Amino acid sequence: MATDVHGSVSTQAGTSHGSGSGSGSGTDAPSPADDPGGARLAVQVAGLVREFDGRRVVDGLQLELRAGEFVALLGRSGCGKSTLLRVLAGLDREIQGEVWVPRRRAVAFQAPRLMPWKRVWRNVLLGLPGRPGRAAAQRALAEVGLDHRADAWPKTLSGGEAQRASLARALVRDPDLLLLDEPFGALDALTRIKAQRLVSEVWQERGCAVLLVTHDVEEALLLADRVLVMEDGRIASETVVDLPRPRDVADPRCAALRAQLLGRLGVTDADGAGEGAADAAAVAAADAVAEGRATVAV
Ligand SMILES: Nc1ncnc2c1ncn2[C@@H]1O[C@H](COP(=O)(O)OP(=O)(O)OP(=O)(O)O)[C@@H](O)[C@H]1O
Ligand SMILES: [Mg+2]
Repeated sequence: MATDVHGSVSTQAGTSHGSGSGSGSGTDAPSPADDPGGARLAVQVAGLVREFDGRRVVDGLQLELRAGEFVALLGRSGCGKSTLLRVLAGLDREIQGEVWVPRRRAVAFQAPRLMPWKRVWRNVLLGLPGRPGRAAAQRALAEVGLDHRADAWPKTLSGGEAQRASLARALVRDPDLLLLDEPFGALDALTRIKAQRLVSEVWQERGCAVLLVTHDVEEALLLADRVLVMEDGRIASETVVDLPRPRDVADPRCAALRAQLLGRLGVTDADGAGEGAADAAAVAAADAVAEGRATVAV
């Protein structure tokens, strides 16, 4: 289990938001409880509801993440994954229910969202309280292998570099909870594998809890301790990935979990046309990996 491997995450009082309808300032409510196994929780969500124009996108959602745990979140487009992440990030407080998250948390989105008029190192420090010095940015950039581009303008970065800058901006906050919303979605296959490996290394060194939203079942299986599937505004299923790292999708145990998850997502080999075509292609690619015709390992 991640928390055993990575040691303790720095002690940090949580903040809560939500409770009642449509409000959400932080309160002095007590910290979230430990889970029944005795591990400290990084996230505790109970009865979360988020509506848009009377439509319930999140509907009584329950969620717990242990400190230091890496959890991947899958689900069909529009099922509410980003909505949940925005709530956990504290960017959306128009909610009902209880949400406990660490005070120190950071989020990285699919689009790197760098300010084009600020050099990379200044982008990394953007929004940080106090007057952090360049050294902090430089350290975070070094962690993602981008310190040599600290003075660059964002528009001169490649897609992978911009994504790493975005990750550095999250890491400089020294988060106990790292929220990643499809951060590799726009990257080419090779850059994506490198970025996945980087996130895995950073997580193992930092020991923060990670919630990664992805559409990629294999990515989830390569990186996460647990894979959740969201459906109808709730967490509909949970798959524990109790496999040693680094993982290989060619491992038959990984292939079995992949098949199980694809089933939960409602994807079958029969989905060969229309909307299912992309998923079927993913299945075919995964089958190639399972048969040893291709290998991806993080
Ligand atoms: N600010 C908003 N106003 C109105 N509707 C919204 C708003 N934000 C999200 N929604 C709706 O809530 C639903 C869930 O959106 P969300 O972005 O959370 O989906 P998602 O699971 O992240 O999808 P994807 O995988 O495509 O990124 C969608 O139907 C979306 O249109
Ligand atoms: Mg989304």
